Amino acid sequence: MADLIITIDGPAASGKSTAARLLAKKLGASFLDTGAMYRAVTLAAMRAGVDLSDEQKLLDITRTCEFQFSVKAGKMTVCIDGADVTEQIRSPEVTANARYIAAAPGVREKLVQMQRQFATGQKKIVTEGRDQGTVAFGDADIKFYLTADSAERARRRQAELRDKGAGESLEQIQRAIEQRDKSDERRAAGPLKPAEDAIVVDTTNMSIEQVVEKLAGYIKEKCSKKT
Ligand code: C5P
Repeated sequence: MADLIITIDGPAASGKSTAARLLAKKLGASFLDTGAMYRAVTLAAMRAGVDLSDEQKLLDITRTCEFQFSVKAGKMTVCIDGADVTEQIRSPEVTANARYIAAAPGVREKLVQMQRQFATGQKKIVTEGRDQGTVAFGDADIKFYLTADSAERARRRQAELRDKGAGESLEQIQRAIEQRDKSDERRAAGPLKPAEDAIVVDTTNMSIEQVVEKLAGYIKEKCSKKT
């Protein structure tokens, strides 16, 4: 396993992906976006036309498709059977359907295994998702849980979507985010919640730079206590 494991969990659009990426860059660490893994399985299952609530079919997809996750220029690149699907996994349809894949315990187990395997090859890693501090890396060195109120998260997501040319209303985006929160918090396997030993940071009134500074400050403090 890596010498330093930092986990960042939190709800949709809480700023965890950007924070994880920038923090990893600052620390010279690898970065893992585990949401991209759930999205990749979702896209592969949609393309195969399988019933998304059929766990066995989803498990077959994880066995028969070849998934590749790599980080290029600080961005996670995802391939299915050799084809780059980095953009396609961000579509609104994939975002909405990912909850079926996230609720399948066997698929979660398989993806957690892949996440641990990924971490084994790294010296330092910042990994983000919903269950990184609670399930995948229970003994991580530092665990963060980022949150923000749903109206602010919707504003952030709208700005992101606008940059991509999409024009959903703020209300639609906020509703979709709250639905995703509910299904992430209520599932039995790997539900979204802060680990008992997580540092909870409310980012509602913070810029991304402030978030990264704050997390880096905690890490510095923790690492200086260790030595
Ligand atoms: O973080 P992102 O929005 O890309 O994640 C997509 C979906 O994958 C989430 O809505 C969540 O249901 C699921 N997910 C998960 N566990 C993780 C990461 C993501 O259940 N560790």
